[in-house]
Amino acid sequence: AAGVPTGRSTPAARLEEVEGALDAFGAPFVVKANGLASGKGVLVTEDRKAALAHATQWLLQGDVLVEEFLDGPEVSLFFVSDGHTVHPLSPAHDYKRLGDGDTGPNTGGMGAYSPLPWLDEKFGSEDAFVDEVLTTIALPTVRQLASEGTPFIGLLYCGLILTSMGIRVIEFNARFGDPETQAVLRRLQTPLSELLFAAATGTLAQHPRPVFSSDCAVTIVLASESYPDTPIIGRPLYGLDAASAVEGVRLFHGATTVSGDAVVSSGGRVLNVTAVGHGFADARWRAYT
Ligand code: GLY
Repeated sequence: AAGVPTGRSTPAARLEEVEGALDAFGAPFVVKANGLASGKGVLVTEDRKAALAHATQWLLQGDVLVEEFLDGPEVSLFFVSDGHTVHPLSPAHDYKRLGDGDTGPNTGGMGAYSPLPWLDEKFGSEDAFVDEVLTTIALPTVRQLASEGTPFIGLLYCGLILTSMGIRVIEFNARFGDPETQAVLRRLQTPLSELLFAAATGTLAQHPRPVFSSDCAVTIVLASESYPDTPIIGRPLYGLDAASAVEGVRLFHGATTVSGDAVVSSGGRVLNVTAVGHGFADARWRAYT
């Protein structure tokens, strides 16, 4: 309704409908669970049988979506909205596949970095990219929701694919992204509390756009063994103080708990190691250290 550019999709309630939609869109096939799935609901595959198996599994819980494959780099861009005014944060890129070298199953995200210097080449500057997303995606969406009597106040997460045909929305979330936020907020110089308070009180228009440092930020997710399927939990974590002491590094706990004197894992996405540095090599080296 807002005219926001996105991939074409077909909802399917039965396997025959899935088959028809897969054949209509062609490979690579994209099958999505239609609902919350903790980052595990999407399958992108060249294998039609695998696409059908994924659909069969999720059809037990409701419709699935078969989508057009959107080819290009993925960018996460967050906007703070007070229902009418929206302010952008700085873009980030996350890596959704489990393994090194961008291999393995989809996850909620295994690492991220910000800013994205390569946007300069495609759009002239990061600001030009952000302005395009603001005017073609974030503002139309927020205006549409306001016109429907359901103003959106909070954090609009635009998941974008930069295709050869232009920017496309692959997903919206009504929350901060994990792990992109850990990288983005390390660079935020404007107090986050001021932005959130302005959003909550409808006064965002009186605030300048948030300001970011030119530092590079890299975050790495430490995940439990067997994540994302059935993570093994209860493992003690060692070396947290030593890790925090590395220059530029901060740890963000996701699924940890205290047991006696030990910090132990309590879920799949255990913690983030986030580092800032003057360049990406520096930030990455610090995070892995
Ligand atoms: N990193 C993806 C998400 O937060 O949905």
